Amino acid sequence: MTDKQPMSSDIDPIEIASRDEISALQLQRLQWSLRHTYDHVAHFKAKCDAKGVHPDDLKTLADLARFPFTTKLDLRDNYPFGLFAVPRNQVVRVHASSGTTGKPIVVGYTQQDIDTWAQLMVRSMRAGGGRAGDICHIAYGYGLFTGGLGAHYGAEKMGCMVVPMSGGQTEKQVQLIQDFKPDILMATPSYSLVLAEEFERLGIAPQDISLRLGFFGAEPWGEGMRAEIEKKLGLDAIDIYGLTEVIGPGVACECIESKDGPVIWEDHFYPEIINPETGEVVPEGEPGELVFTSLTKQAMPVIRYRTRDLTRLLPPTSRSFRRIDRLTGRSDDMLIIRGVNVFPTQIEEQIMRDKRLSGNYQIVLSRDGHLDQVEVRCELQRDVSDKLTASEQLAIGKELQHHIKTNIGISTRITVLKFDSIPRTLAGKARRLFDERPKLI
Ligand code: DLL
Repeated sequence: MTDKQPMSSDIDPIEIASRDEISALQLQRLQWSLRHTYDHVAHFKAKCDAKGVHPDDLKTLADLARFPFTTKLDLRDNYPFGLFAVPRNQVVRVHASSGTTGKPIVVGYTQQDIDTWAQLMVRSMRAGGGRAGDICHIAYGYGLFTGGLGAHYGAEKMGCMVVPMSGGQTEKQVQLIQDFKPDILMATPSYSLVLAEEFERLGIAPQDISLRLGFFGAEPWGEGMRAEIEKKLGLDAIDIYGLTEVIGPGVACECIESKDGPVIWEDHFYPEIINPETGEVVPEGEPGELVFTSLTKQAMPVIRYRTRDLTRLLPPTSRSFRRIDRLTGRSDDMLIIRGVNVFPTQIEEQIMRDKRLSGNYQIVLSRDGHLDQVEVRCELQRDVSDKLTASEQLAIGKELQHHIKTNIGISTRITVLKFDSIPRTLAGKARRLFDERPKLI
C-alpha cells in the first residue's frame, strides 16, 4: 500500500513557502520573462509597442493584465521558429501540437528548459506519491507529442526504471506490465481503461496488478472515471495537466494526500483566469479561461498564453500553490480524441482535397466502451453523385480515412453519402459537430 504522506525531503521549499515569498519570486521572474521576450522576440515587442506597454511598466503582478495575450494564432503565424527567444543553435529539442489548420504549432527548448521540465515532472511525480526506485511504465505516445518524452525524462531524473512503451499494442503492454511489475503507469485516462479491460479479459484481478499509481492527463476526465480506473487497476489515479505551448505535462499535478485538483507549479507558470469574451481578468475563484505566463522558460517563453481551457483557480491545500478545478471544457472547437488534439477544420481540409466531395460534412463523436469513436459523414458533389458506383463511393471513403489517419493521426469511420443527404444550416453557423459521447461525471 502507498504511504500517502510524502516525505518532507521530497518537497521543494518553495512548494510550502508563504504566499508572500511566492509572490515576490513570481514578480522577479515575471519581470525577467517579459524583458527576455520583449528583447528577443520581435513579434512580442511589436504587440507591446502597439499596445503602448513596456516590460518596465510591470511593477506588480496585477500589472500583467496590461500586456497583450498570446494565442495559437500567434504560434501559427510565426511557424516554425519565429517565437524563439534564443539563437536557433541553443535550441536542443522541438515538440509540436495541432494548430487550427494543417500546420502544427512548434515549441522549442534549451537544455535548461529540458532540465526545468524534467525537474517539474519529478516534482509532479513526487506529489502524486512516486519515489526513486519505482518502475514506471509510460504509455503516452513518444514523438512530437510532449506526453511520452516529458514523462520519460522526469521519471528517469526521479530515479525510476523507465519502460518507454509508448501507445498502442495493448496486449503487449499488459504482458510487459505482468512481467516487469511496474509501480507507476503513465497514460491517458481513456487508454488506462483499455488496459484495464485487457486485464479483465485475461482474468487478472486488480489486486494482482503491480501498479500502485497512475498519472493521467492530456484529455478531460471526471471523478466517475477516476473511481473506475482506481477500482479496475487497483491504483491511486492522479490528475496531471499540461500543454505543449506552456511546456508539456507537469504544468500542474495533483497531490496524493488530497487528490483535489492539479497544483499549479506557480514558481514557473503564472496563472490568470479571464473572461473569454472580454479578456478581463475575473475575480479570484470565478470560472473562465485559463491563461499562463512562463516565468523561467528560455527558448520559447509565452506571455499570457490563452489555453482555451475553461476552469477556475482554487485556493492552496496540500501545497502553498493554487490549484485548477476540473476542466469544464474549452472555449474553442478543439477536440481531444484519444489524447490527440483535433480541430474540425483539419478534417474539413482533408475532405476538401477530394474534388468529388462537397463541403457539407458532419463529425459525429461517440464512445465505444471507453474509447472515443469518430465518424465523418460527407457528401458527394451533385455532378458525380449519381454517376459513381457503390465501390467507387467506398474507395473515396477509404482514401479519406487514409488521409485523415496520416495527416491528423486519428482513426475514423467514413460514410460517403449522396448529394444533398446532409441537412443544410439555413441560419447562423453550420453545425458540423455532433458530440454524442456521454458526459463525464
Ligand atoms: O496533452 C500534455 C500532456 C501530456 C498533459 C500528458 C498531461 C499528460 P497538448 O497535446 O498540447 O499537451 O494538449 C493540451 O490537453 O489544453 C487541455 O485541453 C488538455 N489536457 C491536458 N491535461 C489535461 C487534464 C498535452 N489533466 C490540452 N485534464 C490542454 C483535462 C487536459 N484536460
